[in-house]
Amino acid sequence: DIIPVLTIDGPSGSGKGTISRLVAQRLGWHYLDSGALYRAVGVAAGWEGIDLDDHAALVRCTFDTRIEFREAGGELRVVVNGVDATDELRTETAGAAASAIAAIPEVRAALKDRQRVFRQPPGLVADGRDMGTVIFPDAAYKVFLTASAEERAERRYKQLMEKGVSVTLSGLLREILARDARDAQRAVAPLRPADDAVRIDTTGLGIDTVVEQVLALLPRH
Ligand code: C5P
Repeated sequence: DIIPVLTIDGPSGSGKGTISRLVAQRLGWHYLDSGALYRAVGVAAGWEGIDLDDHAALVRCTFDTRIEFREAGGELRVVVNGVDATDELRTETAGAAASAIAAIPEVRAALKDRQRVFRQPPGLVADGRDMGTVIFPDAAYKVFLTASAEERAERRYKQLMEKGVSVTLSGLLREILARDARDAQRAVAPLRPADDAVRIDTTGLGIDTVVEQVLALLPRH
């Protein structure tokens, strides 16, 4: 039996995380936050004082880093080498480190199987940049979410403000554009929609609307 997969790819702030979690809940399927794996390696490398230019050390760090997802009080916590790093993982610093190490082919290769094991019955919702193109190319359902850079920066801004993290909107916009450019231009697994992905522009759309549009792609739920 083939375990169904729904891939949801897109740039940062496109709403992937929120939409993927809600859709997984509605379907009763497993959820993979693939970005958290790259962020976890980035954060672990930071803890070890590894330079982001030291590719050999980063590849070794990828193999050595233990990453666990734990459901706690309706929230998904990420435990890195035994330490709850959920909050640190959400920072733009962790995002930038993730994006830098994600450009290293050996790092991506090392994380491939660690993503594919999430494909468990009754199904998987996989959120990332290359879920539909590289990790689960045979997925039955593929979505590519976009939104204007301004709206994505505003969403991140609100999220971070709620968490008490102080940032500026213009700084966030600059970081988001830089990360998008790096993700789209890298040689391995660049951010791009799979040929068979359904594109949804979420600019100006509410979360519930997008969730319904995604669920409508599946036969029954
Ligand atoms: O999705 P998130 O913002 O958590 O991802 C952080 C970074 O990890 C992205 O900017 C991207 O460079 C990298 N990433 C990736 N492939 C994925 C998921 C994330 O390259 N499937």
